[in-house]
Amino acid sequence: MADGETGELGRIGLQRADLFRQQCYINGKWVGEPTVDVRNPATRGVIGRIPDLGKSETEAAVAAAAAALPKWKAEPAAARAKILRKWNELMLKHQEDLARLMTAEQGKPLAEARGEIAYAGAFFEWFGEEAKRVYGDTIPAPASDRRIMVLKQPVGVVGAITPWNFPTAMITRKVGPGIAAGCTVVLKPSELTPYSALALAVLAEEAGLPPGVLNIITGDAEPIGRVLTEDPRIAKFTFTGSTPVGKKLAAQCMGTVKRVSLELGGNAPFLVFDDADLEAAAAGAIISKFRNTGQTCVCANRIYVQDGVYDAFAKLLAEKASNLVVGDGLAGVTTQGPLINAKALEKVEAHVADALGHGAKALTGAARDSHGGTFYQPTVLRDVAPDALLTREETFGPVAGLVRFKDETQALQFANNSRAGLAAYAFTQSLARSWRVSEGLEYGMVGMNTGLISTEVSPFGGVKESGVGREGSKYGIDEYLDLKAVFVQL
Ligand code: SIN
Repeated sequence: MADGETGELGRIGLQRADLFRQQCYINGKWVGEPTVDVRNPATRGVIGRIPDLGKSETEAAVAAAAAALPKWKAEPAAARAKILRKWNELMLKHQEDLARLMTAEQGKPLAEARGEIAYAGAFFEWFGEEAKRVYGDTIPAPASDRRIMVLKQPVGVVGAITPWNFPTAMITRKVGPGIAAGCTVVLKPSELTPYSALALAVLAEEAGLPPGVLNIITGDAEPIGRVLTEDPRIAKFTFTGSTPVGKKLAAQCMGTVKRVSLELGGNAPFLVFDDADLEAAAAGAIISKFRNTGQTCVCANRIYVQDGVYDAFAKLLAEKASNLVVGDGLAGVTTQGPLINAKALEKVEAHVADALGHGAKALTGAARDSHGGTFYQPTVLRDVAPDALLTREETFGPVAGLVRFKDETQALQFANNSRAGLAAYAFTQSLARSWRVSEGLEYGMVGMNTGLISTEVSPFGGVKESGVGREGSKYGIDEYLDLKAVFVQL
């Protein structure tokens, strides 16, 4: 169905129509025939189309990035920072358009999309400044007639694959440090949310980013992914997405021994102790669990509540969850959008059915929403078995399953019983417990008495099978820099 028939594009209501691009961006040119439909998950209407490019076009993008590299990495850090700063300013100037485009293709409520644009742009600002602080080292040499220095240099051409759940921020969190460090990039955004990525390229050009420094390609994931992981001209590969796909792509990278960073699936435990501020814990659980309709890697996935406050917390959380407003994100008042597709809905239903089949009780939700399609009611389940499917797998949907625990030792056992290690949360008013639990949780990030841990200033990433490397913070730029030791004989 064309947009004329569904009016999807009209409904977005862009102030700047040229931010909507249906072609890929390679070497500063818009290329490719738009042939693949992109749909709004809230309405299933077609927003537009994108090109279905493959191996040869990806190789052309890599060639463009390789050709642009020498000049770009020779630019002073301050010049790269200036472009990144301008890019962020343009994103904020067009925040409303970018947010509306994102909501239309991804489904998240408009308020969350606006927030994501600000969050995303902050990575440009931050890493532009960090580029100015890429200091090397001098090392005291073991002989008086020798000198040793460490230089930090850009790794080279970066291949990046980004997901649909944060269509803009997951790009800027990779492209920002990469470009700031002096690398050039070939990016494959999710085919479900390409327009946010392509709009960024429009603004990149306006900010003064030279051709070839950022190239964006859409199409079949397999051939594009193969070039990005196997082409020897690519020095570094970065991926955000599922753990099984990340493992496969990382293995492909080893044929040419690339630098790899991976931000993969989570299975975040959320612990509520007897001594917690229950109101704060319930508010934190709502933020962590229901942000983006439960479709974030850091969403609380398993909620463990201590015996003494179990009933009170369950009641409070169910009350808050039942106040969430389900609907089309563009409607404005919505706080819960649709799930991204039918497969996501099936997974949510399977997790709920498994929990209920093993003795859980639904306090609210546990059914498809009256909006139809992939809308699902915000759900709170109590008396979930400790080994229920939803405690073992990431649900990626609006389902809060509550499991009971008796003491701190058991809480940590439950929490750490996972191969995932991205984010964990705990609520307690005991200072001593907050330290013990923060240190005992085998996770890359811990939210202590908070459900929100995402900011450009802090390192984002996981341990175990949740990934390799960190994004954001002063550490994030290191993923795009190589160390070179220089020995001087006097
Ligand atoms: C993610 O879900 O991968 C990212 C979430 C965030 O940045 O907060």
